[in-house]
Amino acid sequence: MYSAIDNHLDTLVNTKSTPLQELSADWLSQKTVRLFVKRDDLLSFPDAPEFRGNKWRKMKYNLLAAKQEGHHTILTFGGAYSNHIAATAAAGKLFGFRTIGIIRGEETLPLNPTLRRAKENGMRLHYVTRKDYRKKKETDFNRWLHQLFGSFYTVPEGGSNALALRGCQELGTEIRLQVEDKKPLYVTSACGTGGTFAGLITAFDKTTHAIGFPALKGDFMEREIRLFLETYQHSSTASWTINNNFHFGGFAKFQPALITFMQEFYDAFQIPLDPLYTGKMFYGLKELIQDGYFPKGANIVAVHTGGLQGIAGFNRRYGLSLPNKKPL
Ligand SMILES: Cc1ncc(COP(=O)(O)O)c(C=O)c1O
Repeated sequence: MYSAIDNHLDTLVNTKSTPLQELSADWLSQKTVRLFVKRDDLLSFPDAPEFRGNKWRKMKYNLLAAKQEGHHTILTFGGAYSNHIAATAAAGKLFGFRTIGIIRGEETLPLNPTLRRAKENGMRLHYVTRKDYRKKKETDFNRWLHQLFGSFYTVPEGGSNALALRGCQELGTEIRLQVEDKKPLYVTSACGTGGTFAGLITAFDKTTHAIGFPALKGDFMEREIRLFLETYQHSSTASWTINNNFHFGGFAKFQPALITFMQEFYDAFQIPLDPLYTGKMFYGLKELIQDGYFPKGANIVAVHTGGLQGIAGFNRRYGLSLPNKKPL
């Protein structure tokens, strides 16, 4: 008999291409550039909005591998507001895995919306000190986890591993097919661990320029991306750069200008952005466009990687009312 899980697996295996939506605005026409949003934020299951966007891309082959290898449990790592933790819990429910989240830091009650939803989706939350959390890649720590939880399939923090890069390469290939005739071509994405961007750029050749916008402060992202490519033996002939100027002070930090921008973007295009990743990327992208960074006639594809699940927690924490879905 065909179960709901089989159905979900079918949908996952045959991931449908997400739309490319062109934006129309004065700040684009004034510079004679075209901006397309790759709507990966629409890539989700109706009942599992947390399993969305780049989480779908990064988890796809991991979930299939876990099934193939006969695992019943997936264990992963993340902070208290992690989109990846939320996505893994939702994926567990969709695809019939038990899930364990190793959470950085102490438990804070009441649980924030991200962890509450993860728990509702069946995830077992296990808190470790920040000091222990830093050991997450060490063999001894891993052995201890196995003693505690038995057998499981491990997905690293942020979901970034070789199979995640493969899923993100598919995203890049989709874009390439959708814009085949459009040159010069620029592709942009937000970066956290860098896994999404690393996979994305492997789908392009030297005729494409990709720009990554880190959500974190520091100048380590380029190194991280090179490391992903080397470690997983991927290569990309695309030219690419990392723009470190739009982190707004660091991860999950923001300034009123970012919030205003996100609200205006939503009013103009009815596309919700998240304040941690896509809001910062689109803000940076608009600045670059207005500064004349792109040549006349440029076609820019900006990937909307999702992340909308985090908006509720962000609103609650800062007393904001950012929209997290399209208007009714
Ligand atoms: C919405 C969103 N966009 C982009 C990223 C960055 O992805 P990566 O960690 O692969 O760089 C994340 C990471 O969690 C995310 O949640």
